[in-house]
Amino acid sequence: MRRAARAWRPGGGVPSRGRGGKACRPASRPAPGAPRARGTGGTGPRVAPRRLKPAREERLASRARRPTPASGNRASQPLTALPPPICGPPRSPSNGASLPSSVMELAERFLLDALAYFECAFGFVAFVLLTLVGSPYGRYASQRSAWRLAAPTAWLVQELPSLVVPLFVCFCTAAERLRHWPNRVLLAMFLVHYIQRSLIFPFLIRGGKPTPLYSCVIAFIFCTYNGYLQSRYLSEYAVYAVDWVTDPRFLTGFVLWLVGMLINIHSDHILRNLRQPGETGYKIPRGGLFEYVSAANYFGEVVEWCGYGLATWSVQGGAFALFTFCVLFTRAQQHHQWYLEKFEDYPKSRKTLIPFLI
Ligand SMILES: NC(=O)c1ccc[n+]([C@@H]2O[C@H](COP(=O)([O-])OP(=O)(O)OC[C@H]3O[C@@H](n4cnc5c(N)ncnc54)[C@H](OP(=O)(O)O)[C@@H]3O)[C@@H](O)[C@H]2O)c1
Repeated sequence: MRRAARAWRPGGGVPSRGRGGKACRPASRPAPGAPRARGTGGTGPRVAPRRLKPAREERLASRARRPTPASGNRASQPLTALPPPICGPPRSPSNGASLPSSVMELAERFLLDALAYFECAFGFVAFVLLTLVGSPYGRYASQRSAWRLAAPTAWLVQELPSLVVPLFVCFCTAAERLRHWPNRVLLAMFLVHYIQRSLIFPFLIRGGKPTPLYSCVIAFIFCTYNGYLQSRYLSEYAVYAVDWVTDPRFLTGFVLWLVGMLINIHSDHILRNLRQPGETGYKIPRGGLFEYVSAANYFGEVVEWCGYGLATWSVQGGAFALFTFCVLFTRAQQHHQWYLEKFEDYPKSRKTLIPFLI
């Protein structure tokens, strides 16, 4: 642990956790008056550790536990830049009762980074695969597949993990960062979307085509994966300055998220109302952003998650935005081509996904 602390070059201002999971001052900023920790990467001379009186030790530890809003880093740090714990007594295998939990914590930080990068890679793979073979559900679902679920059931089941996993993380784990407003608001943004997607959207579908079971299973796995990634990151590891909610990046991201969600819901509403109850056919969507693009609902969804990615200012949030773009852009292209082939009078000026651009 001592070697790791010396090798680490802190980004500054990111509290780490000490014994018992308490937030501590990062290695680069020792508490004023605190003794220099052994081997914490300081540039000054190394001094021999001095044993403190218990009362003074406790006073320094509680001062070090206070959050450091004036850290200079307003946004969250990449998890790999988080410092190793240095609060509390020096840890070594001989006295380190907290070693297992700190190792677990570091391991989860790296895991969350790895999962985020993997989500980006998975997005690129999905982009290539879906471009080659197309999306397997809705109007493109094979009618010969024996294993199919009714559309409302499939949407409910596959999207529910994105709601259940974060709720489990909120209520059944320490979720210590949720004491901070930026983390709460960001996780609430994620949850609000999935309350709509998993508990409301499925019950509004009109005449949706049955979904192949394998497509539902893949979506279920992704929602579990991404629900864990976003909620664990925001509830346990993302560190924001107290005033992050007034930062231009957060504010712009929040507005994009809100506008994107409204576009998405409104566009899904337009599509739904193309059918009378009991109908299953297709018509040319008109009104709203459908006047500009063939997949206005996907445009809303992409804007929404780009806003979320910006507001979280994290690899985790950005990975989800990228993944969403990769998946929905390929499906939007498929829809656009399908409309052009199916309807002779389909407006030629409409773009695929992004008004006036693509
Ligand atoms: N974040 C992500 O990665 C992600 C991925 C996928 C979907 N989503 C979101 O999930 C929602 C639904 O996605 P989706 O792929 O199912 O959207 P979609 O293909 O546009 O279909 C939405 C619904 O409208 C119906 N519909 C579509 N076009 C129609 C037309 N021209 N005439 C009549 N009915 C029409 C569909 O019926 P049929 O089922 O009969 O075609 C379906 O019930 C969207 O809001 C999307 O943004 C998000």
